[in-house]
Amino acid sequence: MYHIRIETTGQWVVHWPNGNTEILSASLNECLSYLTKEIKTQSIEGGTIDQEILFEKDGQTFELAQYLTEETNRPFVCGKATDFDTKAKQIPWNIEYYGYNPEKNEYSQESLLTVGNGFIGLRGTTPEMEISDNNYPALYLAGLYNEVGSQVADKTIYNEDFVNAPNLQKMYLVLDDQRIDIENNQILYMKRQLNLKNGLLSFYYTLQSDDGKKIAIQTKKIANMENVHQYAVSYSFTPLNFSGEVTFISEADGDVYNYNVERYRSLSSRHLQVSKLQADKDVVSLLAKTNTSNITVSQQAKLRGCQHSLDDLVIEKQSNKVMQKVPLTVKKQKTYTFEKTVLVNQYRKEDKVADIDLQAVTLPTFNECLQASNKAWENLWEKAGIHITGDLMSQKLLNLHTYHLLVSASPKGNQGLDASVAARGLHGEAYRGHIFWDELFIFPFYILHFPEIIKPLLLYRYNRLEMAKKEAKEVGYQGAMFPWQSSLDGSEQSQDLHLNPISGTWKKDNSRLQRHISLAIAYNIWLYWHNTQDISFMKDYGLEMLLEIALFWESAAVYNPTTKRYDIDHVMGPDEFHESYPEAKESGLKNNAYTNMMVVWLFEEIARIKNEFSTTDFATIQKKTGVNDQLLEKMDEIKRQLSLEIDNKGVIAQFDGYFELKDLDWQHYKQEYGNIYRMDRILNAEGKSADDYKVAKQADSLMIFYNFSKEQVSTILKDLDYQVPADYVQKNLNYYLARTSHGSTLSRVVHAQLAAMVGDQDLSWQLYQEALYSDYRDIQGGTTAEGIHAGVMAATLYIPLTTFAGLDIRKDIISFEPNLPQSWSSIQFSITIRGIDFIIFVSHETISITPTQTTFVEINHENVELSANEQTTITY
Ligand code: BGC
Repeated sequence: MYHIRIETTGQWVVHWPNGNTEILSASLNECLSYLTKEIKTQSIEGGTIDQEILFEKDGQTFELAQYLTEETNRPFVCGKATDFDTKAKQIPWNIEYYGYNPEKNEYSQESLLTVGNGFIGLRGTTPEMEISDNNYPALYLAGLYNEVGSQVADKTIYNEDFVNAPNLQKMYLVLDDQRIDIENNQILYMKRQLNLKNGLLSFYYTLQSDDGKKIAIQTKKIANMENVHQYAVSYSFTPLNFSGEVTFISEADGDVYNYNVERYRSLSSRHLQVSKLQADKDVVSLLAKTNTSNITVSQQAKLRGCQHSLDDLVIEKQSNKVMQKVPLTVKKQKTYTFEKTVLVNQYRKEDKVADIDLQAVTLPTFNECLQASNKAWENLWEKAGIHITGDLMSQKLLNLHTYHLLVSASPKGNQGLDASVAARGLHGEAYRGHIFWDELFIFPFYILHFPEIIKPLLLYRYNRLEMAKKEAKEVGYQGAMFPWQSSLDGSEQSQDLHLNPISGTWKKDNSRLQRHISLAIAYNIWLYWHNTQDISFMKDYGLEMLLEIALFWESAAVYNPTTKRYDIDHVMGPDEFHESYPEAKESGLKNNAYTNMMVVWLFEEIARIKNEFSTTDFATIQKKTGVNDQLLEKMDEIKRQLSLEIDNKGVIAQFDGYFELKDLDWQHYKQEYGNIYRMDRILNAEGKSADDYKVAKQADSLMIFYNFSKEQVSTILKDLDYQVPADYVQKNLNYYLARTSHGSTLSRVVHAQLAAMVGDQDLSWQLYQEALYSDYRDIQGGTTAEGIHAGVMAATLYIPLTTFAGLDIRKDIISFEPNLPQSWSSIQFSITIRGIDFIIFVSHETISITPTQTTFVEINHENVELSANEQTTITY
């Protein structure tokens, strides 16, 4: 194995594998591009750098080994050659940042360094950080929402917001009456590291006070994955060049507010009222209640001094916070460690809030939390880890995405919880922590690896079924109309008005017309049922939801005597750039193709699923929902006569009249604006409207191919009696790809999967890679600061299994048609389908499967019998 070794004694001395030694003396940028180019052209496999070298590039701090790793996709590590193997193995498991990059960059790193467990999410800030434009410490609890009114353009608007809970992680030092923290002291060094394997977040920093006193600080943070109500923080410091008096302060701060999203800052942001504040030496307790939803957040923290007693601890109470102050006489070069463990509970207004006896609060130490959490993480990785060979950076990003999905929802965190997975995880406040159709992209991850989580997630919807029926009734429909944006009570939470940050004006927001949300819920119920056969769930909840959703669509479909087909009007598809027809007074569009085809699927599925229940069971749910046989017959009729517009090349119009819209001068806008993801905002600021143009934010008609195989979509079209040419998928992809600006991160994954379906592997790989990097590189210019994009993260984990390993879990038999990307030598993963655990390994030549029970699968259309606990290998 060849390596290079770069020595950094003053100059960069490079030892190339061929024995040559070279001293680099050009500018930084020249050295970097020379090195990256040579490493690639000489096919060098990796290297060591004798020490950390930090440099600034494009306003960011980089470390040389990490930089070379990311640029060349080969392992580079700091340290001795003998450490190489051990350290190189760690690369895909660690996310590291160097230096301090205030504002949006910090916010976005904090999102990506969030620790959590499905119940809580703690943004990746250091313990001393305060809410500011540069940093945003926040604690989120799944399902913690509150509604307050805000004055916007002369009227009061109401939003259910995702509440930032009181901050009990706070710890800092006071030296010579000055607070030692990152914003107010010189930062001599800073490194953050998140270990994705066990969720341990560590910070290493050296600060210098105004009078030159240097302190090295190391802090650590974990959210306990085993006992999901606990998180722990540790704070160590070493005075480097002085001895003397310092005060260590630990705080429980109830004076918090929502501040994560810049464009919401003019809206009301205070959601909590501290209802009880108690302190007794090393234990504090803070209870705060949301001011309208009446949810109580109860937190208790236990502080520990690791090398010394807390006898001198002094408690100082202020109106909404309590401080525990520990005076210390410190010695130069000696390390002092404090840690605290916090217990978090949440009580809905109908729950009884537990009394707190401070004396009785016993909480595990940091290490005990870490040990318990490590074990839980180990089990999670065993089930969800995707292991690829041949592509280091993709492996790292797959790990990053798996980690963040488990932070957003986990088996322990979500059991018994009335919450679903928010579009932006438990990581930020964009979209106010609301729950969208993104579940469609997110749930397959859990269905495949942790099917037990899906039941509580779907129950979140079931618990809001009555509200969905009420909302349908209010606008003249029957059945259940689930909201586009959902949070606490299940009412529609989409905004009426939306701010265009480019023009600074508010515009009517019709996104609630994306009624296809209920079809996403139906799809997830079906996928869960199909892959678990959880009959009791279906009997108690699933079937009822499916029938109520179907009833809604039955009531929305209107017969058109002219076309002799049914129309569904006043809806929007996933492409949010199109809300209504040009110049139209009414909102919404007619016959959105994706929606109509999904309705056909749902009606087909209901006809089929009927046979999977006993007549009595089915009749019971029919009675409960009012979906009688006559209505089922009507659905059968609608599913054969819904309307689509298809041109003579087989391109399916996104909605009726789409082809008449104006073409956009893409060249012009690309030249003028560079980044044209949000073409709607650009057009709006020019006094135009995206409604008038053939420009899509994301996949719309094409979405149907994400949900179903080509065969199934062809069946839907056939059922509707539409003829399309054999290459219609390719035609549709080419047509819409040329008219899509990818303004949503969900867009690329759909196109990537579709490109593979039509055999365009290069395009598929390029789009997949862009999607894979979308949060890590924050490609939407700052949106990661407001939370991760759980939908795209989940989809980037699904595509390797479905598109690349070729797994299809939608048929009666699990099937594989492998199509590994050139850059990957192999992929290995585990899944659980209908109670059988499978370990699957796919290379470019073979596929090996080990199931826990004897079963059949299909590999490239051939039936293969698999024996229990034996590995079967097929050369394909
Ligand atoms: C996308 C929606 C998505 C929402 C939340 C929007 O930008 O257009 O499809 O549901 O973000 O992630």
